[in-house]
Amino acid sequence: MRILNFGSMNLDFVYEVEGIVRPGETVRALSRRTYCGGKGLNQSVALARAGADVCHAGLIGTDGAPLLALLQENGVDVSRVEQTEGLFSHTVIQVDKRGQNCILFYADGLLRVTDALQEHALEGFGPGDWLLVQNELERMGPLLRAAKARGMKTALNPSPANDSLRELPLGSVDCFLLNEVEGGWLTGETEPEAILQRLRAQYPEAVTVLTLGEAGSVCAAGTKTFRQKSYPADAVDTTAAGDTFTGYFLAGLLRGEPLPRCLDRASRAAAIAVSRPGAAPSIPFTRELEE
Ligand code: RIB
Repeated sequence: MRILNFGSMNLDFVYEVEGIVRPGETVRALSRRTYCGGKGLNQSVALARAGADVCHAGLIGTDGAPLLALLQENGVDVSRVEQTEGLFSHTVIQVDKRGQNCILFYADGLLRVTDALQEHALEGFGPGDWLLVQNELERMGPLLRAAKARGMKTALNPSPANDSLRELPLGSVDCFLLNEVEGGWLTGETEPEAILQRLRAQYPEAVTVLTLGEAGSVCAAGTKTFRQKSYPADAVDTTAAGDTFTGYFLAGLLRGEPLPRCLDRASRAAAIAVSRPGAAPSIPFTRELEE
């Protein structure tokens, strides 16, 4: 069983700050580092490190070679990644003393997701395979519909939450992985229990995983609910913790592992990721989960 992840690949410019900059304020950053990231790339790396057979699809600009190299080093199939004339998409990330972040994302207008790119990405995938998408790239609605028409299962990490989510065929998604902000955006609720209840009612066929930071995570599947604690970690940088969770959870789900085990391993992996700086480099290998 394979998974196609159609997602963003960014270079992250990460600034260490005493506190996240507020409107009207100017602050001097304590350090700057550059990492490979992007919700799509991070999730492909996490899937691969968790042992899944993953193919990444998407666009890189003329200077995106480091992003491609990182995916290849991790055993990700990059035959559906295309290079275009634009510059790479990148982020400016502030990380404060508690490891909390805020992210400004910019994608060059030339990095356009075309029908041809989507068709090429889906070639060879069919029943039994999965498609994973996030909400950092445009036009994910047609892609989700085309994957369903091929008999694939679909997983959605609706991040970042914004109006383009309204264009997605949410009723046909098989697995949602989302945090409280995204869950709140989709349901209009603020409390985790209410968010989960509403998602369960709206998408009764889906497996829905709501991550709650230090409060762990909760998963709704049919009439069952599974709760998972978070593992203690000295938080250095929370960037890509959610992506790590997503990759590890889905890798287990694809292998047919019981949901409590999928949640437990995803939670362990995310705890390791927050204890390290950067996005993709912070994602652990499976052997590290046993240590
Ligand atoms: O989820 C973390 C990622 O979000 C970062 O790597 C950054 O590129 C943004 O896409």
